[in-house]
Amino acid sequence: PLTTTGDLVTRAAAARSAVAAFNVITLEHIEAVIAGAESVNAPVVLQVSENAVKFRYGRLHPLARAAVTAAERATVPVALHLDHVKSDALLRQAPDAGFGSVMYDAAGLPYAENLAATRAAADWAHARGLWIEAELGQIGGKDGRPPLDAHAPGARTDPDQARAFVADSGVDALAVAIGTSHAMTSRTAAIDRTLLERLSAALDVPLVLHGSSGLPDPELAAAVAGGITKVNVGTALNIAMTRAIREYLAAHPEAVDSRSYLTVGRDAMTRTVAALIRALGPAPAG
Ligand code: G3H
Ligand code: ZN
Repeated sequence: PLTTTGDLVTRAAAARSAVAAFNVITLEHIEAVIAGAESVNAPVVLQVSENAVKFRYGRLHPLARAAVTAAERATVPVALHLDHVKSDALLRQAPDAGFGSVMYDAAGLPYAENLAATRAAADWAHARGLWIEAELGQIGGKDGRPPLDAHAPGARTDPDQARAFVADSGVDALAVAIGTSHAMTSRTAAIDRTLLERLSAALDVPLVLHGSSGLPDPELAAAVAGGITKVNVGTALNIAMTRAIREYLAAHPEAVDSRSYLTVGRDAMTRTVAALIRALGPAPAG
């Protein structure tokens, strides 16, 4: 059934576990995320990013409608989340399109501007019952920013600044920069465990991990143990899909039916979803 990110994150926080949130681009991504979550009987968040909307000719509705329909029919709770939103026009489409939550991304702006834009977005979202996540301390690798930026100490989220940011903006959750970076194609990143401990102690809102595709399983488990309650994964699904399709087409040069290779691509994503959810540890009951 369709649920909300706020509900899933609250349950995960109470159980000291985390909910996995996967970015979807195609119908096959949506089907694979739900099939993978069902196979391990865990709730899941389906995320549509502003970049995915741009890819769909700037339209939210094709993915939103498919995601709502799939969520309603799923045997596990599925939440719909709008991810990395910079455009106010897109933010304003969230409630009518069936999204219960948004991540508002003004982290590329200087602190005062990030805070002002995020506070305005949070006021707007809360007036409509939306749960809102924001980011402080840039997690690199988005939109041409070099991925390795996020591994530099300067790119980390400062706990004192984060406490003020959450209090002054009123957001429901915070994406923190603790060593991950977006769009990594190898699982070689590591989290700054000391910083995560300090952030967990400083903040009373749930903490969100972005760029999680770059973390090996033990680091994912450590992030959850350290207080991360929402784990965002995108690139890992694209790696799984693309590798499977590349191998299939190499082995079947005569193939032309798109269903043949989309099937192997979707199956590979389904297995990745199940494996990553398992890596986060047991889901809260119910
Ligand atoms: O918001 C989405 C995530 O941060 C995805 O990052 O593609 O590096 O896994 P990733
Ligand atoms: Zn992200």
